[in-house]
Order: sequence, then C-alpha cells, then structure tokens
Amino acid sequence: MLSLQRQREIYINGLAGYVPKTPLSFAGLEQRARQILSEPAFAYLAGGAGRETTIDSNRQALDKIKIHPHMLGGVQEVSMLLMWREHTLPAPFMLAPIGVLELAHREADKAVAKAAASTHTPMIISSQASFPMEEIASQLDSNPRLFQLYYSKSKELSQSFIRRAEAIGCSALVVTLDTTLLGWRVRDLDLGYSPFILGKGIAQYYSDPVFNALPDPPDNSSFKPPLTLSLIKSIISLNSRMPGGLISNLQSKRAMKAVRKFLSVFNNPGMNWDDIALIRSWTKMPIYLKGIIRPDDALRAAAAGVDGIIISNHGGRQIDGSVSTVEVLPSIVKAVNGKMEIWIDSGIRTGSDVFKCLALGAKGVLIGRPYAYALACGGTKGVVDCISNIQAELELIMALSGCKTLADINVDLISHPWNTK
Ligand SMILES: Cc1cc2nc3c(=O)[nH]c(=O)nc-3n(C[C@H](O)[C@H](O)[C@H](O)COP(=O)(O)O)c2cc1C
Repeated sequence: MLSLQRQREIYINGLAGYVPKTPLSFAGLEQRARQILSEPAFAYLAGGAGRETTIDSNRQALDKIKIHPHMLGGVQEVSMLLMWREHTLPAPFMLAPIGVLELAHREADKAVAKAAASTHTPMIISSQASFPMEEIASQLDSNPRLFQLYYSKSKELSQSFIRRAEAIGCSALVVTLDTTLLGWRVRDLDLGYSPFILGKGIAQYYSDPVFNALPDPPDNSSFKPPLTLSLIKSIISLNSRMPGGLISNLQSKRAMKAVRKFLSVFNNPGMNWDDIALIRSWTKMPIYLKGIIRPDDALRAAAAGVDGIIISNHGGRQIDGSVSTVEVLPSIVKAVNGKMEIWIDSGIRTGSDVFKCLALGAKGVLIGRPYAYALACGGTKGVVDCISNIQAELELIMALSGCKTLADINVDLISHPWNTK
C-alpha cells in the first residue's frame, strides 16, 4: 500500500536524522509558509472575509462528523481509484483553482502543474493564474486539467478564455459563482495590499488577444497616491513583471493600462442564471458551477443543464458568517438525488476529511490552501508531498474502516448532527 511505503520512507529517513521538509500537519504547513513568505503574501493566501468566522466554521463542521469504523474487514489492499469522465483518477480529489500563486513560489502554477502531472491529480487552472494557461498546460503532459472561469464584464473575453481552455484540452469548465465581487478581506485591507494592482495574477488577461484588443478604460479616478519610495518600488515591480520589459513598459504605460483594464472587466456583479445558459451554449465542455451552497440553487444548476457543482464558500474568503460547506452537503445530496455530480471544498485538510465528505455523498473534493502552503515550503516537491500525504491518510483510514474501494465508503460509517429530513 502507498501509505505504508510513505510511512516507511519517512521513518527510515528519520534514522539518518532527516525530517520531512514539507510539514505533514496543516498547522505545520501554515506556520512554515508564514515564516517563508512576506507578510502581505501570507495574508493574501491565509486570509478570509471579515472576522474570518467562515474559515473556522468550515473546520468546526468537519470536526463534528465522526467516523464509526468497521473492524475485521480483512482489507489488505485498497483502491482509491475514481472514474471521472474519461479519466481514472488515483484518488478522489483535484487541486482547487488558486489565483496569484506567484505569492507562494516563483514558479507558481507551473510548479503545481508538474506536481499534478507526477501524481496524476487533475489541476483546475485559475482565471487568476500567474502564467498563461498555455504555459501551465505545457507542464501537465497528458494529465487531466480543467479551467476555472471568472465570468468577465466582457462576454467576448469570457468566450476567448473558454476557447483557449478548449484548445489546451481541458476536460471541463469550472464557473465560479461566489466572486462576482471581491469579499471584504480585512487582512489585505489592513496592509493596503492587492496583488492585482501590482500586476500579479493577471497573466490570463494580458496574454489574451481579446483582452488586448479591448479599448483602454478612461482614467477617471480622482485619487492619486502620494509619491513615496514605496510607490516607486510598486511601479518598478509592476512594470518589470509584464511582458515587454521595464523601460518599454514605463514608456508605453502598457502595464498600468493593462491593470486598469483588468480592474474594469475582472468580475461581473450582474451575472445571473441567464449567463449560465449563455456559457452552456458557448461550449461543449462539461460545466461545473463552483460556489453553490443551497439545495434550491443546486436544483437550479441541475435544471440549467450543467454537469456538476462544487459546493464551496471559497475557503471563507467571500462572506463572513457563511454556512460551512460540509454542513449543507447532506441536504444538497438529498435534493440533487443523483442528477449531477457533487464535489466539495473549503476546509479540507486531511485524508480523514476526504473520507467524511465521500461518506456524506460527495464524488470527490478539492484541495486548496494545503497545497498552496506546500508550494511555498518546497515548490513542486512540496506539492507532491502534500498530495501523497493526503492520499496516504485516506488509504489508511479506508483500510482501518473496512473499505476496499471508494464505493465502500458510505453514510453508515459516520455520524453527523445535520438532519436532512
Ligand atoms: C489564495 C487563494 C486564491 C484563490 N483563488 C481562486 C480563484 O482564482 N478561483 C476560484 O474559483 N477560487 C479561488 N480560491 C478558492 C479555492 O478554489 C477553494 O475554493 C478554497 O481554497 C477552498 O478553501 P480551503 O483552501 O480553505 O480548503 C482561492 C483560494 C485561496 C486561498
């Protein structure tokens, strides 16, 4: 079993005085990332909306679910294989779309793509990635990839992103619904820090022909920041980041214009169910709606002809005081009644969490912050370790609970406080 090999490797290295460079616990990963990263970079990754109670709720709800393992299942081999569309996945999870990964590591999404390819884990490429999707895809070999769309104010731009996603062989389109406006992110606000204004996390946009052809929006902001050393550093950082080079970008104001244009089209607060029908008509790719958190919305999604939903509260980054995702999973599973796939994220940290979500009826889960912190700790190797650790723990819990395959994980193996009647 994979988990036994992993334990053996770690314990034997321990004899030689080596301990894993990528911490195994989430608390350890978070602490190491905090030590390595700058204050604003860590704040952006770790932060949530408002008082961050949604982040806490996600964890508290998962901790309320208890596993009731079967003994004497005689499980000597476990298969975690999951058939998903045309792919056989080694384990029931994917890497969540995480924007601005250059804050965690220079190689950002490209390092993650290498880890995804070496572990055969599907990667959901973010609209806010740090590299154009074509460059990320070039690191993925034949590994499954999906594209996550932030539906822009410019329909033509969204269509162009979708065409590019088709061209790089995406198996599905993930449309994120919960970020039609950016949440009230107090840590970032306290530091006066937005990565986007510095030109970070907008590579999909400045590499897009439709984006580049959009007219520059008028500069009608009456607010101009005072000229300080910090402002000069920010201007240099922004202009050296974009293709074209520092001097040419400064002369042409290309980088500044690109950021202003991005801010004018980034999200679309007017997005509604008609837009889902429109997106459906634009592509043959399977569509997953990310951010659904209510049974009635899940039913609307099924009626809209999408292929699945990802129950998510964006890792607590959008609405403070939102219901946790795992708490609504049973009622959504019941309402949907097998009509489409249900995936879930927000707060998933361990193999035990994955087991609980599957027992409640999710097809699989998305891993978010754990891999972003692991990227900060050790680049591609860090992400590979993080994925392997979650897989190993899931495999052990399955074996220790009497489950030989994912189909054996069911609601009878857990208890939880949420009534679905
Ligand atoms: C730093 C950061 C950036 C994110 N960027 C995106 C994004 O670009 N698109 C998206 O749909 N979700 C984004 N998410 C949300 C994740 O896809 C996922 O829903 C969330 O991380 C799950 O919560 P968890 O990390 O606490 O498990 C981001 C999350 C974080 C932490």
